[in-house]
Amino acid sequence: MLIQDIIARKRDGLKLDRSEIEFFIDSYTSGALPDYQAAALIMAIFIRGLDSEELSYFANAMLHSGTVVDLSHIQGIKVDKHSTGGVGDKISIPLAPLVAACGVKVPMVSGRGLGHTGGTLDKLESIPGFSVRLPLDEYARIVEKVGVCMIGQTEELAPADRKIYSLRDATACVPSIPLIASSIMSKKLAEGIDALVLDVKVGTGAFMPTEEKAEQLARTLVEIGRRAGKKVTAFLTRMDDPLGVAVGNACEVIESIEVLRGGGPEDIRELTLLMASHMLVMGGVCPDPAAARERCLVALGDGSAIKKFKELISAQGGNPEAVDHVELFAQAAHRTMVRATRSGIVQSVNSTAIGMAGVVLGAGRRQVSDPVDPAVSLFIRKKIGDTVAAGEVLVDVHYNDDRGLTDALERLQGAYVIDDAPVARKPLVLKTIQS
Ligand code: URA
Repeated sequence: MLIQDIIARKRDGLKLDRSEIEFFIDSYTSGALPDYQAAALIMAIFIRGLDSEELSYFANAMLHSGTVVDLSHIQGIKVDKHSTGGVGDKISIPLAPLVAACGVKVPMVSGRGLGHTGGTLDKLESIPGFSVRLPLDEYARIVEKVGVCMIGQTEELAPADRKIYSLRDATACVPSIPLIASSIMSKKLAEGIDALVLDVKVGTGAFMPTEEKAEQLARTLVEIGRRAGKKVTAFLTRMDDPLGVAVGNACEVIESIEVLRGGGPEDIRELTLLMASHMLVMGGVCPDPAAARERCLVALGDGSAIKKFKELISAQGGNPEAVDHVELFAQAAHRTMVRATRSGIVQSVNSTAIGMAGVVLGAGRRQVSDPVDPAVSLFIRKKIGDTVAAGEVLVDVHYNDDRGLTDALERLQGAYVIDDAPVARKPLVLKTIQS
């Protein structure tokens, strides 16, 4: 098989067959195919797309480019959740232990911050001692023993995705629905799940700014899962202003602890309960979402959810004392406020600008190799539809390094549009798509 022929077929808008797709993924993963030929094919796919059959072969070849974890020896239906990424989106952190506390096993392989969005792994690493780098046999052991394990993508899981993702990043080929969908699903299907809940974000802080595009992505993700024989439910959810109050790393874990104790901001609590109840139904421990929600409320109220989080922290090398003593988390040395320059009603909040303000202060990375500062925190005091008086605090900023401060404060001030018209907030959940 000649790669030039495969590139030419996709360039001309023709359909690739299974053997052509497998040849490309296998030879690129093994190093036999150089980056320039892979980049040409990826760009052709970016422009021409993949139909549902090609996409299924593509995702499947990426999935089988490395180890596919087998958790079938662990009793019960294993269910995970994935979010396409947002600002203040810490849902996985209260969700995974809550679901495990209710009896469903949660094997979770998460990511780091990407662009303006935060990453679950960076947040978890703000817990003193917590390790997200565990070998796959240890991961399987913790899923079995504790009921939940949260790690990062290892060398063995979907290596084709790691190579293709870097190539896409360097060649302006990230925002492609078939490429995003195959990238996400290859990793999720490799981690040993039976079912998956997807949170596809829509709005100013999401990678998919319109509902139409987000729905297309959600349907594509669900279809890949269906073809792989997995139950998948996708929710399209609002990401117009940050989720909850805290944006950062340690501060988002602390907010998650509040949720696990039965409190926390309304939107975080609601989204956690929604995802958790569907995971309990998919996991076969509750007959319907209403019963599952009640089950979750019991776990949040009786201390079993927070207890499960402590067990998870201990199993992954962290200090569970941090849950009761949040002063053990890193604290920032300095604090300043961004205030409203006029009175009125918050019309819109540009969450991407808020996420980027966090990045320039060190909560995220400018370059892949940068460390993150776990203490940097933005506390969002005003959200869309809130009434605000001139001089009132919009964002409470906690930081260590003032090199990015002026830039960050400008981004935060510019993120808010305040005017006089009343504003109706969109619902938190815009649509549900099931396989
Ligand atoms: N997240 C992924 O894992 N892959 C993409 O392509 C985009 C977001």
